[in-house]
Amino acid sequence: MDLNEALYTTRAMRRVSSEPVPPDVVQSMLDAAIRSPSGGNSQNWRWLTVTDRSTVRELGVLYAEAWVELNETFYKGAREAALDRGDETTLRVLSSSQWLADNFHRVPLVVLVYNRNDPSGASIFPGVWSMMLAARGHGVGTTLTTLLGMFKQTEVADLLGVPLDKGWQNAAAIPCGYPLGRWGLAERAPVHDVVYEERWGEQPEWRVEEALWTESSLGL
Ligand SMILES: Cc1cc2nc3c(=O)[nH]c(=O)nc-3n(C[C@H](O)[C@H](O)[C@H](O)COP(=O)(O)O)c2cc1C
Repeated sequence: MDLNEALYTTRAMRRVSSEPVPPDVVQSMLDAAIRSPSGGNSQNWRWLTVTDRSTVRELGVLYAEAWVELNETFYKGAREAALDRGDETTLRVLSSSQWLADNFHRVPLVVLVYNRNDPSGASIFPGVWSMMLAARGHGVGTTLTTLLGMFKQTEVADLLGVPLDKGWQNAAAIPCGYPLGRWGLAERAPVHDVVYEERWGEQPEWRVEEALWTESSLGL
């Protein structure tokens, strides 16, 4: 797959089918993940794959509870505010997130990512993102989720036998599966709005009004 296509279209792909992800594809995703950099090449990570139906169901129950907690705390009033503003993007994210909370138990594969001795928390996400890009290359959709680590750290550790007392922490849980929908370009605020040159607040003279990669870049 074209590198830019993977970079521009690897999205939160929450709506996935229950079709299993073959072992060779899982191995390829994880082998790509562990090629990523970590501070001092410390590789303080563990990647726990879960496909067992009853364990995924239990994770689904915990995920749905965590989603409710998120909506009662950090996301409190978010839906109403988005409705008032007519903010379609946020409403789409909330609706797709609700779908995942309602269907987490059906996902064929969940990769739980653990790190330790990573005070900045920055050593784990290059690997997470590499895994998601590798999955994209195989046509497998992924979603980076942090809700289980935020709200259900102990419950998930009890379920999976994770030794929290040895310093391991859940950094992310990544449901993976074959997409029910289509891949699309990630829409973002334009790059010139979020880049400064030389000094804070100094916007560049250049502008990039449209994404520099589009599907037509592939010449299809
Ligand atoms: C650090 C981080 C945590 C996230 N946690 C969750 C989560 O717990 N649940 C979820 O459904 N999506 C989660 N997401 C996915 C984002 O909501 C999503 O990537 C963002 O809305 C942009 O959408 P896109 O990836 O489809 O372009 C998370 C993303 C990041 C980077």
